Amino acid sequence: MSTANYGDTREVIAPADFHVHLRDGALMRLVTPHVQKGGFYLAYVMPNLVPPITTTEMAMEYQKNLRESSGSSKVEFLMTLYLSDALDPNDVKNWKAAGIVGVKSYPRGVTTNSDQGIESYDKYDQLFREMEVHGIVLNLHGEIPSDHSKNTCVLNAEERFLPVLANLANTYPKLRIVLEHATTEAAVKAVIACGDNVACTITAHHLALTIDDLAGQSFHFCKPVAKFPNDRLALQEVVKSGNKKFFLGSDSAPHPILSKSTATPTSGCAAGIYTSPILLPLVAHLLDSFGAIDRLADFTSNFGRAFYQIPAGGYSPKVVLQKVQGVSVQAEYSSEGKTVVPFWASRQIDWQIVNVEE
Ligand code: DOR
Ligand code: ZN
Repeated sequence: MSTANYGDTREVIAPADFHVHLRDGALMRLVTPHVQKGGFYLAYVMPNLVPPITTTEMAMEYQKNLRESSGSSKVEFLMTLYLSDALDPNDVKNWKAAGIVGVKSYPRGVTTNSDQGIESYDKYDQLFREMEVHGIVLNLHGEIPSDHSKNTCVLNAEERFLPVLANLANTYPKLRIVLEHATTEAAVKAVIACGDNVACTITAHHLALTIDDLAGQSFHFCKPVAKFPNDRLALQEVVKSGNKKFFLGSDSAPHPILSKSTATPTSGCAAGIYTSPILLPLVAHLLDSFGAIDRLADFTSNFGRAFYQIPAGGYSPKVVLQKVQGVSVQAEYSSEGKTVVPFWASRQIDWQIVNVEE
């Protein structure tokens, strides 16, 4: 493993972001083109709209709107459904043909638009068995809700979820399960301890932040929150090790600037960090900072595609990045009265996309 020199280049074939929030309406139209701007040609799209995406019809309509908003036919949008009682196990066999790749579970109350989320996994046994048969992936938001009587809060919510992960992985050994946006050393160990049916996404921002960066900085607030320095180190180390279970899912989650910056005691601050427009250069910069730049293509394309069994094919551009001396991140993006602020706004990134070879 090495650190790059200025002028060095790296290439990634068909970069894939296996966890992204693209919203709807004006915000969707603003942020969807940023997937390609950030260097990505596959977007695995989260279903937590209001109301949540719970039918194949809703997912197909949403996919159509995303394609139109993207302003390009080059990005592949993979769709997910929101785990809820609305999902019928008898329908699972039809999902693949409708473009549904996974089902996302949100424990109720843990994050943005999770008030329709689940309270128990037991009642989805039949659904999970059908998903196992038909090759649909289960995506887990891995936190249990805060409960102060049990001393559960945002700092241990992920660690206390891990027995649930182990139990699901054992009960459904052929169900492909992804623990989303891992933030802790404990989660890394738990995923490694599971069989090959379990993988894990890691965000760019959790490779960069600790809880100290979040304290007092609302634009660093997301769920799960960034944790301790040893946790960040464990995420960095597992990426550096080249373990194929761990790949990028940005969890890029835009919110209008006012929802992030004008919190009141009753409204709070919306959870979500927005990385889409700078994603591939940012990941290159971060990997380079801890000696893992040679893992760039595995982490941002190869490993995730292998787990999802979606090899680069069809339109598969080669994205070339170069190490340069500091490019400033744009302060904000606006359209139709919506403004979003990207992660690391006005800070410098040492990598940029210099070519896309089609
Ligand atoms: O920070 C987050 N924002 N975490 C999530 O799980 C959801 C996301 C969102 O939709 O804003
Ligand atoms: Zn998310």
